[in-house]
Amino acid sequence: MQHSESFIPLEHKELSKEQSEAATSDFYKLCDSRRSVRTFSEKEVPQHIIETIIKTAGTAPSGAHKQPWHFCAVQSAEIKSKIRKAAEKEEYENYHGRMSDAWLEDLKKFGTNHIKPFLEIAPWLIIVFKEMYEQTEEGKSTNYYVNESVGIATGMLLNAITCAGLVSLTHTPSPMNFLADVLNRPKNERAYLLIPVGYPEKNTVVPDIKRKDLSEIMTLY
Ligand SMILES: Cc1cc2nc3c(=O)[nH]c(=O)nc-3n(C[C@H](O)[C@H](O)[C@H](O)COP(=O)(O)O)c2cc1C
Repeated sequence: MQHSESFIPLEHKELSKEQSEAATSDFYKLCDSRRSVRTFSEKEVPQHIIETIIKTAGTAPSGAHKQPWHFCAVQSAEIKSKIRKAAEKEEYENYHGRMSDAWLEDLKKFGTNHIKPFLEIAPWLIIVFKEMYEQTEEGKSTNYYVNESVGIATGMLLNAITCAGLVSLTHTPSPMNFLADVLNRPKNERAYLLIPVGYPEKNTVVPDIKRKDLSEIMTLY
């Protein structure tokens, strides 16, 4: 194989079959323990943990390695309050006319409404932005597979949050243009997800829902 760019040796540690089985099983159990939480405690989370979580998301693969993501980590009470106010305004419209009857019916089991106290209570809000294009000094440069790349990075972010013993919510108070305004983001960025992070409030409950069985999500050829 001819390489035009410089290459370095791959760092790869091979596991025994037993180690591999144990590691995948442990990781599955960790991921399976993740639940969307809508009631947070005010307990603080150190900034360096949030930074490591975001660094983990930044290890995701991306189309042509464009890394078309940006993560805003908000702990300022003032900014969280602005975000809550704007999110609740959009969610009020969503729950009072913008969402279809079928959608509202599908949401009944989650007991959600337009009121979102967790946006001020959770110690951190991570706002994921996707970069629609790259803005360089020379001008615009195309990003590829932006949704796929940012989706993968966000999945890794969510698992890193779980790994840290923290909980999160994947929140979409759409339309989410207000987030770019409140956070003063550049024109090439679009808000992708709003993720409160922290500890669950004492006695937190979550909807009793089931995940699809392996036989429903996998076809063996
Ligand atoms: C793209 C996306 C958007 C979501 N938006 C919201 C939301 O705006 N509000 C909310 O309470 N939950 C939201 N959720 C959370 C889902 O309801 C939750 O992931 C689903 O019910 C499964 O529950 P689990 O996360 O506990 O496994 C969203 C999830 C995804 C993946």
